[in-house]
Amino acid sequence: MKALVLSGGQGTRLRPLTFTTAKQLIPVGNKPILGYVLDRIADGGIKELGVVIAKETGEDVKRYIKDGSAWDFDNTTYILQEPLGLAHAVKTAEEFLGNDSFIMYLGDNLLGEGVTELLKKFEEESLDAMILLKEVEDPRAFGVAVLDGKGNVVKLIEKPEEPPSDLALVGVYVFSSRVHEAIESIKPSWRGELEITDAIQEMINLGFKVKAEVLNSWWLDTGKKDDILSANAVVLDEFIKAEIHGGFDGKSKITGRVKIGEGTEIINSIIRGPCAIGENCIIENSFIGPYTSVGNGTRISDSAIEYCVILDDVVVENMDRLEESLIGRNARLTRNQGHRAIKLHVGDYTEVEL
Ligand code: DAU
Repeated sequence: MKALVLSGGQGTRLRPLTFTTAKQLIPVGNKPILGYVLDRIADGGIKELGVVIAKETGEDVKRYIKDGSAWDFDNTTYILQEPLGLAHAVKTAEEFLGNDSFIMYLGDNLLGEGVTELLKKFEEESLDAMILLKEVEDPRAFGVAVLDGKGNVVKLIEKPEEPPSDLALVGVYVFSSRVHEAIESIKPSWRGELEITDAIQEMINLGFKVKAEVLNSWWLDTGKKDDILSANAVVLDEFIKAEIHGGFDGKSKITGRVKIGEGTEIINSIIRGPCAIGENCIIENSFIGPYTSVGNGTRISDSAIEYCVILDDVVVENMDRLEESLIGRNARLTRNQGHRAIKLHVGDYTEVEL
């Protein structure tokens, strides 16, 4: 069993952050989303990893995973792909995959459970495809499945305008090598992509053994800003333990599960967990509320912040209350108390809500 992690694509819905970084590398709980994906795959006992990358962001992804030894992979192969669809990614990875079965994990998906059970069922039942489904409020943004009374998949449609069910396809799939046969016979969809959803439908049409399971745990597809904030909250809730390496003065108060990195100083501030503060930050005369992650080298003074993801080397000053915000690297947010006018210097595709 091999693993194919999809870390290509364009990440257009997360601009401007994705102008300078791969969307799979955006951190939640101060760790790239891709890191959680690789943890799951490694925990599933997989040793051979293939990573699909795009021209624009591939080098960053490589710099993060390196040879995969941090996750104990025996070898890691990078596969450069033009973003022409998930099935196209599989096609591009055919040489790496050979005749082996593989788990395909979308690099921007976070799941509340591991893959061990899924892989076990796939092997025990000698399946050709195993897919995961989850009920969602608005299925129009996903692949959608229709099941018969016995739980067999009857039909799969990618991003339907009128969803026939509320069961979305989760971005984790297990395939036998027969998937390649199905991919050979599908055509690009209306959005010009070779869809894995169509390939699985083709496997059903060809009479291959396809099984679906409804996921019991939480699932997050981190395609947009609000998804990143929710993912950050869930990850802080589930994975953050109290761990204080930096220093704080006698006037500061730290409550709940708070992780503070080396070299960070907390001065006259309240930090309320769950939250993660990186290394070499200065937090002064401020309140950092629950579900906030602050990257390395960030300085926050005279501000109140809650439910935010703030990346590295950011400066926040005099921001009376900053909530539900995603702030990219080296951003500078200040409030000039003397003026009522708002002064902005924002990048392309930035969103400002005042
Ligand atoms: O997240 C689950 C959904 O993922 C499923 O419900 C859909 O059926 C499936 O098509 C997919 O939809 P998205 O529109 O969310 O996929 P997205 O374009 O965001 O790509 C998913 C991941 O795969 C992302 O990390 C980028 C990577 N990717 C994407 C494409 C299109 C590639 O590596 N290569 C590609 O060609």
